[in-house]
Amino acid sequence: MSDITLQNRRILLGVCGGIAAYKSAELVRLLVKKGAEVRVVMTAAAQQFVGELTFQALSANPVHTKLIDLESELGVATGEDTVTGMGHIELARWADLILVAPATADLLSRHTAGRADDLLAAVLLASRAPKLFAPAMNMEMWSNSATQQNISKLTERGVRIVGPASGEQACGDVGLGRMVEPDQIVEEVSAKFSTGALQGESLVITAGATREPLDPVRFISNRSSGKMGFAIAQAAVDAGAKVTLIAGDCALDTPDFVKRVVVESAEQMMSAVEEVIENATLFIGTAAVADYRPAKYKQHKIKKSADTMTIELVKNRDILAEVAARKNSPYSVGFAAETENLATNGEGKRRSKGVDIVAANLVGGEDSPFGSDENEVTLYWDGGEKLLKRSSKTDIARQLIEFIGLRVREQKEELEKK
Ligand code: C5P
Repeated sequence: MSDITLQNRRILLGVCGGIAAYKSAELVRLLVKKGAEVRVVMTAAAQQFVGELTFQALSANPVHTKLIDLESELGVATGEDTVTGMGHIELARWADLILVAPATADLLSRHTAGRADDLLAAVLLASRAPKLFAPAMNMEMWSNSATQQNISKLTERGVRIVGPASGEQACGDVGLGRMVEPDQIVEEVSAKFSTGALQGESLVITAGATREPLDPVRFISNRSSGKMGFAIAQAAVDAGAKVTLIAGDCALDTPDFVKRVVVESAEQMMSAVEEVIENATLFIGTAAVADYRPAKYKQHKIKKSADTMTIELVKNRDILAEVAARKNSPYSVGFAAETENLATNGEGKRRSKGVDIVAANLVGGEDSPFGSDENEVTLYWDGGEKLLKRSSKTDIARQLIEFIGLRVREQKEELEKK
């Protein structure tokens, strides 16, 4: 399953020459499965253990092996990002994180000394991206004070060292030196991106469209896909929140660690929210809740007869406004889909519903976010506004969660001062 912390993250994997290199193939597979974009740099020794083609096939990107590659350097000179030709500086800039697995004693030593004698060492030296090393070597090499001093220096410089694990080694020795398993490395990579912005918070979020039934086979609904709400639910989990997602019919996987409650109508959504809201510290309404429902539900399928037909509708309760009006209400965030006058309508909705933040977006045009993977929203709160520029819903969700985390902390500090 994809993982929003890793979604679209650019991970440069450096593979060194050790028997554990075969496990790095699985590592690439797992990272790609979680939505990351992976590029692999192999040292000369690594190529003796695993073929380039394995990493190329798994990452769906060309593998980088040479420090001086005329074609690649041409890309730097012309400023082109040619797919095959990425020079060491471009690779260094491209990476959101550099993972070296396995990291041999030699690589640790070379990076500690600040060398740039092959492509991997040069990229490591040229990049400001966070670095995570998973060492693997013979237990004596690991315990040697030269290696231990290198590890201390690297840790001091902010390199995160994962492992090594203890166990039977390829050389027959038993002790510390095995590379930690790929799934554990993936968790560590994921944790590097997670911010903890909502640590300790308990979030209830609504998502998707409601369906207002007319008869056993028909309903009134809208075009909401639920993607934005699901992306926010995942971003909130990644930021440390406990999340309950109350969703209408959405063909989307439930993000890991999210409790999903499936509802159909606005009335059912309201009841589901009422059941859990007492313990929530945060509420985010992303659902496209139908404003009206048919006044009467027909027990049997409505028959076709006259040329025209009138359906009487009655107003649904406003879930967001009711949550925000509660005594000890959770910090509340709403969405506003507008076709015009974003600022007036967005801020107006924030005030009329009594919520802390409204995330407003324009709908109906060519760039309408309905069903799309992208969105652009403007946040309105008491005393400010902020544009989250057009980007993937995953990215917008992360930014929104970071912002909410910040506001919640500020609000708590203000309350403490009083
Ligand atoms: O009033 P409008 O539908 O534009 O408001 C949108 C915001 O209010 C969204 O956050 C939506 O989830 C929420 N809402 C609600 N219950 C309703 C109608 C809207 O929670 N009945």
